[in-house]
Amino acid sequence: MNQPSATTATLPQGSGFGATMRKDNWWIGPIGIAALLLSFLIYSTWAAFQGAYYWVPGTNYLSPFYSPEIWGHSPHAFILGQPGFWQSWMPPFSAALLILGLPAGFRLTCYYYRKAYYRSIWLDPVACAVGEPRKSYWGENALPLILWNVHRYFLYAAIVFVFLLGYDGIIAHMFPVNADGTSFTNVQYLATGAENPAFDKTKPVEAHHHVFGMSLVSLVLILNPLLLAGYTFGCHSLRHIVGGRKDCFAGGSGCGTDLHFKAWSFVSFLNRNHATWAMLSLVVVGLADVLVRLVAMGKISDFRFF
Ligand code: FES
Repeated sequence: MNQPSATTATLPQGSGFGATMRKDNWWIGPIGIAALLLSFLIYSTWAAFQGAYYWVPGTNYLSPFYSPEIWGHSPHAFILGQPGFWQSWMPPFSAALLILGLPAGFRLTCYYYRKAYYRSIWLDPVACAVGEPRKSYWGENALPLILWNVHRYFLYAAIVFVFLLGYDGIIAHMFPVNADGTSFTNVQYLATGAENPAFDKTKPVEAHHHVFGMSLVSLVLILNPLLLAGYTFGCHSLRHIVGGRKDCFAGGSGCGTDLHFKAWSFVSFLNRNHATWAMLSLVVVGLADVLVRLVAMGKISDFRFF
């Protein structure tokens, strides 16, 4: 019987970092991803340390970088002021510093982002059939990358964040007004986090009621949790948890049920475009903070539709 003859394929790879025989523009992808990730990292770090202009007086807008505001100086804070454990040697208090570790850890350990920054920032490997900068390879079996296996625990926190930010997106459409229907803006604290010297203590600190409205900022604040949901509920770890660990879906001992199959199918559907959800949600969460910040600083108007 004739056996298919073995053929030898030569990969278009040279030796040494960046060496390759590829003729396409393979470097565009890594450079573009690196620019996006580094821009977001620099901006979000700066915004997290600001501790000001993360909410807009006279509205229910709250930057997603600062939500949930456990301690803080805005009407959104569960506890007004800064926590007692905040020491003088620490950086100036910012509510974002208390919570940002969870979403940051979620993205840092995400399987898609790992691929993205291993290639574009770590450069190992920078692209298929392109020379690598290192000779040895430990993968994720040794420190520090073995720690990335905590991803599923960050996932649990991320699911909570989806609902918290969803709530923020909904109440961003409820605009506070006085009893006579005029906009309510008399706030105890300024958007900078400082006490408002012009605060009139004879006036109420709460709005009389709220009216439904829509603006560019409120739309972005609701788009943010929707994209975050698409990203979070398409997580590879979640796919494993809800059904991927089952060998079959026929029911019975060791087998998943129809409910497992439906859950696994839904997560698999979102998972197909996990990279797109990851990047879109990253851009929009940054955009939400930028818009809230610019409106709070008075640099742009609110673009209120109604
Ligand atoms: Fe990307 Fe879990 S793998 S969010």
